[in-house]
Amino acid sequence: MYKSLVVVLGSAALLAGASVRASQAETEPSGAALFTSAQAAAGGKTYAASCSKCHGANLEGVSAPALRGAGSGLAGTSVGDAFTFISTQMPAGNPGSLSNTEYANVVAYILSRNGHAAGPTSLTAVSAKASKVKV
Ligand code: HEC
Repeated sequence: MYKSLVVVLGSAALLAGASVRASQAETEPSGAALFTSAQAAAGGKTYAASCSKCHGANLEGVSAPALRGAGSGLAGTSVGDAFTFISTQMPAGNPGSLSNTEYANVVAYILSRNGHAAGPTSLTAVSAKASKVKV
């Protein structure tokens, strides 16, 4: 009797642990770091060269929408949708002209300027497209 109760409690704990891990993988916590600080810095240079004349040196928006803050056209957009849009539509006038690495770096820079923390793993075209984290 005592033994079987232990077994039941033990497997309930295992099941609870498994479901917590599964739901974390599905929701991809927004605090998870998606990019490195080195690539955000590299992305800042690409942004200055290829994006800032329309979107502003401070992402504040000039002839094109702001990319950070309350008026940002990216508010509520997922990283995946932002990457796809940027890599296929931007820079306006010469869309698709950057490499996947440059696009990933620019998205890393935009994320860093929107308050996302850097971490140990680089953002790639593949990981960016798969991410449902909000910009
Ligand atoms: C020649 C001007 C110009 C350049 C350079 C440019 N953009 Fe844009 N961008 C625009 C305009 C205009 C829009 C709004 C029209 C549209 O959605 O197509 C826009 C829209 C966007 C949007 C969507 C924002 C929203 O409100 O929907 C993002 C994100 C973006 N640009 C990122 C970039 C990035 C990153 C770069 C550099 C790689 C870049 N843009 C370079 C003009 C530019």
